[in-house]
Amino acid sequence: MSSLSENLSTLKGQIEDGLKNLQSSKELYDFKNLFIEGKKSKISELMSGMKSLAPEERAGFGKSVNELKVWAQEQFTNMEAEMKKRELMARYEREKIDLTIPAAPQPIGNLHPDTLVKNQLIDIFAGMGFEIYEGAEIENDYYNFTALNTPKDHPARDMQDTFYLSPEFLLRTQTSAGQIHVMESQKPPIKILSPGKVFRSDDDATHSPMFSQMEGLVVDENITLSDLKGMLDMFVQKIFGKETKTRLRPSYFPFTEPSVEVDVSCFECGGKGCSLCKHTGWIEILGAGVVNKKVLENCGIDSEKYSGFAFGMGVERIAMLKYGINNIKALFGSDMRVLKQINEK
Ligand code: PHE
Repeated sequence: MSSLSENLSTLKGQIEDGLKNLQSSKELYDFKNLFIEGKKSKISELMSGMKSLAPEERAGFGKSVNELKVWAQEQFTNMEAEMKKRELMARYEREKIDLTIPAAPQPIGNLHPDTLVKNQLIDIFAGMGFEIYEGAEIENDYYNFTALNTPKDHPARDMQDTFYLSPEFLLRTQTSAGQIHVMESQKPPIKILSPGKVFRSDDDATHSPMFSQMEGLVVDENITLSDLKGMLDMFVQKIFGKETKTRLRPSYFPFTEPSVEVDVSCFECGGKGCSLCKHTGWIEILGAGVVNKKVLENCGIDSEKYSGFAFGMGVERIAMLKYGINNIKALFGSDMRVLKQINEK
């Protein structure tokens, strides 16, 4: 009996000591199994030792073992709660974040310089009351040429090397094709701006087979070349600066009469002469003119009552001038070193 009682108090001591050293719920679980859970636990072993006791001693011993078991159970339950708390605190500690630390900077994208210029042009013209019309990139011969007073075999067709898709269909060479669609479907007053891609078989430092144009068309009663000049003056001052002046030079387009090339005073040197303006003081930016009466008539507009002006400019050309780029390909490549420099300006 005495050795069994000793075992009992040793076991109690072991449980007390062991509990102090436990580090995790897992260890606690194993420890509990070792001491009180199941048939092979130390407490079960102690119970089975009872057989060797005299019958009158068994009841007393059994009671003591049970008390030990109840006590141990309580210890484990308390320890379990304590362990959970400790583990939760440790997790909080581990996952703690400092919300006051500034975030690591992320590189963000920019609009492409071509898009920047396009948006700027659209903004300026929208501010002057122009509506946006976006035409189709595939046109037929009639809209791209014939209705624009450029019938087959007209020498002016040579001005634009055309990509034909079939004898009838082609990739539009000019946004002017949109003029016809607009005048066919709208009655004057008309005031539209038509941005879009155009295509020509032409490829060198300042020409690309695909580029963007911006076409303007105004049709109303009493529209003259002076209205065009006034509007252009406003436009160039907004895009190139307040001091910029315009100059009209006679030119030729089949769909305008008279036709002009529009130059601006060099915004780099103020007109004194520099490498940008090739020492002339002037930079050509667009073609324009008074809408040819034949074009109005082709669209069913009374050319005695109405008149109009039109202009067309190359968006990349404007971007190249603005950003000092001398090769149009720099605008179509995706070399980040080039694009970054442009954006930093
Ligand atoms: N369409 C002409 C071109 O591409 C530009 C232009 C447009 C000229 C409108 C006059 C009027 O060269």
